[in-house]
Amino acid sequence: MKVLREISEVREARKQCRSTLGLVPTMGALHEGHLSLIRNSVAKCGETIVSIFVNPTQFGPNEDYEKYPRTVEEDLKKCEAAGADYVFLPTNEVIYGTEKPLVTLNVDKELTSVLCGKSRPIHFNGVAQIVSILFNIAQPDIAFFGEKDYQQLTVIRKMVSDLHFPLEIVGVPTVREASGLAKSSRNRYLSESELAVAPNIYKVMNIIKEKAEAYRKENKTVSVESLENEAKKMISELVPGSKIDYFEIRSTKDLGRNEDLSDDSRIFTAVYVGTTRLIDNLYIGK
Ligand code: PAF
Repeated sequence: MKVLREISEVREARKQCRSTLGLVPTMGALHEGHLSLIRNSVAKCGETIVSIFVNPTQFGPNEDYEKYPRTVEEDLKKCEAAGADYVFLPTNEVIYGTEKPLVTLNVDKELTSVLCGKSRPIHFNGVAQIVSILFNIAQPDIAFFGEKDYQQLTVIRKMVSDLHFPLEIVGVPTVREASGLAKSSRNRYLSESELAVAPNIYKVMNIIKEKAEAYRKENKTVSVESLENEAKKMISELVPGSKIDYFEIRSTKDLGRNEDLSDDSRIFTAVYVGTTRLIDNLYIGK
């Protein structure tokens, strides 16, 4: 496995690649979720490049950019073991240069003023910016993203379609701890007592999914709002010290809102456990 630090090195690797190139963009602090993205790429593509870059433009002023875990040495070992051919490890200067950019990306508010975008107003502009830069540098045939960040995946798919990037986006299912807690680089911020209660968020999501399925089986309609309120009450009780940012049921396809359950409903939630913000989602479906 080769570590590349300069754009010219990535371009050369792309030029030498005689088969399909898979890109796995990450911010490092790699866990099983990332390794599953890498393994999917290795299985599907001739060569795989993983990027590790904590992207400053997707963090708001009061967010955890400075504190975000940086574990490069361990990450490199994990990438190699998972079968990556290259790791791109750029600095801020390599990606953004030293001057303020003239052109940035502005993602329409329809997708990004809801869910995570509500409390992170600049986040998806920053994600679109870095992901498009990485696509332009590596020119992959396929890029892999986790379904855990479902809103991000939706924004990236739409960006790829709008800007005609010549590549395929593959969404990879969320990897969970045995407790059900979705794997996340931010889980390491959780104290022992927080780790003990955080999996209850996923338990509540499953209870709501089962309720939705039961209503459907009996051909009864149920308002999305009543299920959401029930879920919020359960989370407040089962996750002491938590603060719910949102718990919403929306369309999987376009994140739109319906009064009743639709054929492609999905639960989306973000909950602060102590000071750590955890996100998760679960398909309710037909
Ligand atoms: O999901 C992430 O880790 C980041 O948002 C991404 C896609 C690597 C862009 O910085």
